[in-house]
Amino acid sequence: MVETLKIEIEHVKRSRLPEVDFTNLPFGKVYSDHMLMADFRKGSWGGFRILPYGHIPVSPATPAIHYGQSIFEGMKAYHSSSGEAMVFRPLDNLKRLNISAERMCMPVLPEEFFMEGLSTLIDTDRRWIPSQEGASLYIRPFMFSADEYIGIRPSQDFTFMIILSPAGAYYSTPVRVKIETHYTRAVQGGTGYAKAAGNYGGSIYPSKLAQDQGYHQLIWTDGKAHQYIEESGTMNVMFVIDDTLVTPALSDSILAGITRDSVLKLARHWGMNVEERKISVKELVDALEQGRVKEAFGAGTAATIAHIEVIGHEGVDHRLPPVEKREFANKVYKELEAIKRGTKPDPFGWVVKM
Ligand code: COI
Repeated sequence: MVETLKIEIEHVKRSRLPEVDFTNLPFGKVYSDHMLMADFRKGSWGGFRILPYGHIPVSPATPAIHYGQSIFEGMKAYHSSSGEAMVFRPLDNLKRLNISAERMCMPVLPEEFFMEGLSTLIDTDRRWIPSQEGASLYIRPFMFSADEYIGIRPSQDFTFMIILSPAGAYYSTPVRVKIETHYTRAVQGGTGYAKAAGNYGGSIYPSKLAQDQGYHQLIWTDGKAHQYIEESGTMNVMFVIDDTLVTPALSDSILAGITRDSVLKLARHWGMNVEERKISVKELVDALEQGRVKEAFGAGTAATIAHIEVIGHEGVDHRLPPVEKREFANKVYKELEAIKRGTKPDPFGWVVKM
């Protein structure tokens, strides 16, 4: 049985809230006044505390820095009309955090600790939840090794934290993506399905090369033969081909996105034809050339529903139909926003009020 969690709170002396322009929020640059921290020592979690947001002391010998033993999550909170914080699918994020933890040889975090820590932090910084359209409070839980040892072995000590960031859209315009057929994000048997720091660190260089060519992001392909579409790193990818919603089936090299799952559930709920299966690069490029790809978009917590306007492959840019003609992506974006903000019913019980 888990005993009741005691959380110490140290409040900031002066809030930074008045300095923030909520009408012009970038993604990931503004952080709220407080953060949650907890320690895993001698086999159990403890020391849950809320502190003023700020730098933290870490050993220069921690495996988190040397070997990337670090995992994270991303979720969002919105304001309800009655002033509550509405958090979208937090238990699904915890489930995925614990899947990542197992893969990276880290301890699982019990549900009671996660939810109590999260709700106390949200309550402390409730005024930081934006109410502006298109903005939300981005919640970043993360866990890393706190050992002081540069040998390779399972760590014993860990730190869990949550920081909060009022944020606007990750992509402010429809995105241009390039199908990557040289570099690899994840391979079979690797860590691609985990939200492990190294998956992201290793993607920066190939993404930068694509950005230098005028793309925003890559579409990764399988690490074996670069024949099959996987995901985009910051989001899962989906296509409406003819009248069917098609997305790569999950595997151990694709992150099981919570927005991805929400989109699929809504599409099936609406009676749309949905296929989760392998999509070869050839099939996609052929369908693009035949004008059968009606819509293409990314789905992710930070990205929400990000329209894809161009898909580049082997030097050819395939342009997708105009955004205003994308019936499904526009509808699902609006529906998800309305459910998250509580202005439409939540048929799947996704929103947790705090
Ligand atoms: C998220 O969507 O929450 C993510 O973690 C993507 C991130 C790389 C910004």
